[in-house]
Amino acid sequence: MHTKNFFFTLFLMLFCSTLFAESSLDKQQFLNTQKIVKNVCMACHGMDGNSLNGKIAPKIAAQNAKYLAIQLKKFKDGVRKNAVMQGIAASLSSEDMDNLGLYFSEQKLQLSAAKTNGVGSLGEKIFRAGIESSGVPACASCHGPGGHGVPDLYPRLNAQHSEYIYSQLNVFRLMEDQPSASYASMRAISVKLTDEEMKAVADYIQGLQ
Ligand code: HEC
Ligand code: HEC
Repeated sequence: MHTKNFFFTLFLMLFCSTLFAESSLDKQQFLNTQKIVKNVCMACHGMDGNSLNGKIAPKIAAQNAKYLAIQLKKFKDGVRKNAVMQGIAASLSSEDMDNLGLYFSEQKLQLSAAKTNGVGSLGEKIFRAGIESSGVPACASCHGPGGHGVPDLYPRLNAQHSEYIYSQLNVFRLMEDQPSASYASMRAISVKLTDEEMKAVADYIQGLQ
């Protein structure tokens, strides 16, 4: 073996064992999950769940594990509709989805910056205080003051690509039926937001630390 290859292999082994040491999956589960991520998810979400472009895929790093697994199950059951993710989830077992949820929840989230909605902006006002005149509640009241979410109840939003936040608000807004209680609250909120307000709050969320 070339020395260069030897050191590369050694580096990979050390790198993988460090990653594994921080996982709550057992070694076999971790290796199986890592393989799925590499073969299937990486192209869009990145190996560590920090997708580079919100038009291609959302960030899923550091998201709540249970939320991630539930979303994958919703895609598989057709409760959540998206042609790309429905096709991908169809081939995953229930155990795969739980393990993928844990894997991505334990990745480090890369922070981003807002384009224009920083301190004192419309986006910040909506996030922190809501809009009294149209009955929009503060996003922070459920998603937390820093948008970090509440495990098992509300997903993490901070540092998410604004394009994805904006597109999900529109998905919620345009839902005709209400397939589950968890969607009902976001649907009721998103129908009260104007296009300008959705864009402002989405931009603010992208910059939340
Ligand atoms: C071809 C690109 C692509 C690939 C490959 C892909 N995804 Fe996705 N993923 C997306 C897109 C686009 C969305 C947003 C769907 C929507 O708008 O509802 C998404 C959404 C998700 C969500 C929901 C996130 C949220 O915040 O609600 C999860 C979870 C997810 N993907 C996990 C995975 C996993 C796990 C894999 C690998 C098994 C994977 N994805 C592979 C493009 C992809
Ligand atoms: C009453 C509680 C509540 C409030 C207030 C609330 N949300 Fe949510 N939000 C939820 C729940 C529950 C979900 C998960 C829905 C599901 O099951 O997919 C969610 C999901 C989301 C998602 C999808 C996240 C993802 O990764 O796909 C976005 C985006 C979002 N909320 C934005 C907002 C914004 C912006 C506001 C303020 C204008 C807001 N939310 C206020 C409860 C709330």
